[in-house]
Amino acid sequence: MQHFYVDAKREFAEQYISRAILMNGMYEGQYPLGTALARPLIAEKVVEVARRVGADAVAHGSTSKGNDQVRFDVTVKALTPDLKIVAPARIWGMTRAEEVEYARRHGLPIGEEHKKYSIDDNLWSRSIEGGPLDDPREEPPEDAFKWTVAPEKAPNEPAYLTLEFEKGLPVAVNGEKMPLDKLVAELNHLAGAHGVGRIDHIENRLVGFKSREVYEAPAAVVLYHAHVDLEKLVLTPRELRFKHHVLDPQWADLVYQGLFVEPLREALEAAAEAMEKWVTGEVRVKLYKGSVQVVGRWSPHGGYSKELADYSRGWYPTDEEARGFIEMWSLHSLTARRRRGI
Ligand code: ARG
Ligand code: SIN
Repeated sequence: MQHFYVDAKREFAEQYISRAILMNGMYEGQYPLGTALARPLIAEKVVEVARRVGADAVAHGSTSKGNDQVRFDVTVKALTPDLKIVAPARIWGMTRAEEVEYARRHGLPIGEEHKKYSIDDNLWSRSIEGGPLDDPREEPPEDAFKWTVAPEKAPNEPAYLTLEFEKGLPVAVNGEKMPLDKLVAELNHLAGAHGVGRIDHIENRLVGFKSREVYEAPAAVVLYHAHVDLEKLVLTPRELRFKHHVLDPQWADLVYQGLFVEPLREALEAAAEAMEKWVTGEVRVKLYKGSVQVVGRWSPHGGYSKELADYSRGWYPTDEEARGFIEMWSLHSLTARRRRGI
């Protein structure tokens, strides 16, 4: 038997996490998609090895109840329609207890936390599900968390970070330039120490039912808030609404739903990139006891003008200009109300 170890962290950061940052990837507004994003890359690497060794089948450990089976199968089928896919847990209808027992019988080491929870982690997030979390009324037990300290145990002094973005992507933390994989790892560490990045989510699985999912994603949460804030400074209101209401949620749905290979994903990214080329600048965030707050931002392409916004001096429309504008601005609504007698 042969074993291949593939370290694809850099590729995961540059090809997948970078897209999640540009597209503000948050499934149902809360889940940063770490597991969902990694599955297509894992499948691609498995297919590469299968081809190298001349295999006629690939296997994965997903059950029939989860999203992961869809993501693995779809990607393998897209890359190579003739490779057979074998999912033993699905074929044998194994429960989690049976999986743990199977591993024990075959001498596969399984840590205590994996006996209690189903955990998947990578650079972008740590997904924790099952066990006590299956009761959505109850607060997640502290032992579910590994990357974040409990907010009440976080330092009493806040931490400030300055994040530098170029064309929508973070390139430096506190003045220090670093590649994306390093930057994400660094932020996981810095923000996790302040209890930032715990997520408790009632999630619509793509296989037809709701589940309670818990995540830790300190870097993803910080970067999401910082990136959205910089977009607000730079993009026109129409660009901003189109991106946040249409492009971003569509993208997150495709990635979550195992359709990373869907051509629409690239079209959404291309539309976003046309706007993101202006999203350059700096964002200052404050981390304090589980919260992340943007407290300052700057961009050479910022749409903000002190001259326009300042009440104390500068440009002022005349009374006549303001009245004329309001007359026409409200015309559609007021006409409709009159016609409808309301
Ligand atoms: N609910 C998340 C998703 O569908 C997390 C899945 C975690 N996977 C796991 N094998 N525990 O992306
Ligand atoms: C599984 O059931 O195989 C893992 C969980 C998931 O895919 O959501």
